[in-house]
Amino acid sequence: MHVIILGSAAGGGLPQWNCGCPNCTAARRDGRDRTQSSVAVSADGQRWVLVNASPDLRTQLARHRELWPRGPRGTPIGAVVLTDGEIDHTLGLLLLRESASRLPVYAPAGVTALLGDDWPLYRVLSAYAGVEPRALEEDRRVALADGSGAPLGLCCSVVAVARRPPRYARAASRATFDVGLRITDEKSGGTFAYVPTAGAVDDAVRRVASGADLLLFDGTFWSDDELRSAGVEAPTARAMGHVPVGGPGGSLERLPGVGAKRTVLVHINNTNPILCSGSAERASVEAAGIAVGEDAMEFEL
Ligand code: MLT
Ligand code: MN
Ligand code: ZN
Repeated sequence: MHVIILGSAAGGGLPQWNCGCPNCTAARRDGRDRTQSSVAVSADGQRWVLVNASPDLRTQLARHRELWPRGPRGTPIGAVVLTDGEIDHTLGLLLLRESASRLPVYAPAGVTALLGDDWPLYRVLSAYAGVEPRALEEDRRVALADGSGAPLGLCCSVVAVARRPPRYARAASRATFDVGLRITDEKSGGTFAYVPTAGAVDDAVRRVASGADLLLFDGTFWSDDELRSAGVEAPTARAMGHVPVGGPGGSLERLPGVGAKRTVLVHINNTNPILCSGSAERASVEAAGIAVGEDAMEFEL
């Protein structure tokens, strides 16, 4: 299985348009940017699954030859999988509206409901190519297939992770909004665990990650009060549903014990000190055997 990190940043990206924090300032000065959270996965290197559709999707698809069209119109993207209904993971669906056919979009039931109503992407897209919503249910392995029903050689199962509904739907009734994905290559057996948003490193995360060849995990914030310390009026990391990487009870203490062969942090907020290569925080992540994800990192599982 081939895995490409299309975007390693949390919502807002790096630099974020209205942020003057040290990381954003350095990124503007040095021309180093990070696009918003998404990955692409493929069994055969020909047909790809887009996992989450970021607001930076257009740039991300242009950067990777594997994802370019092979004829006058068309795309190697056979299906989209959503781990949640957050804006930074779904807005890119609007950018796929020129598609020649309905796009299969796999998502948990709670997310499909949000995208038909509170954040009505599916209604808007129905006037364009439209989407074909497909269900991801807990404890049911799904063989991912393209719009014509042809299998893509990848099996996907999901586990609900500790989170809350997106901010635009705080009052939404209880349903599954955020999941961790476990994607297995049907031929090679290679296993990829993807948990870009999680409020805890708990049994749910262990079920997704145990034995996986690669785990990409939520590295949004280093500390619980990171945004407030940066002078931003905002809730804590935990209140936003992101377990911080550092400190007591942080993911750094627990990730080495979840049983993945390799762990890389993604969905990294622009305020996070692990983005600074000389920082003590970056050094402690690397000392724990965990890597800081970058745009365009590629893995063969
Ligand atoms: C999150 O990851 O918590 C959300 O994407 C935050 C947001 O962009 O509103
Ligand atoms: Mn996000
Ligand atoms: Zn910033």
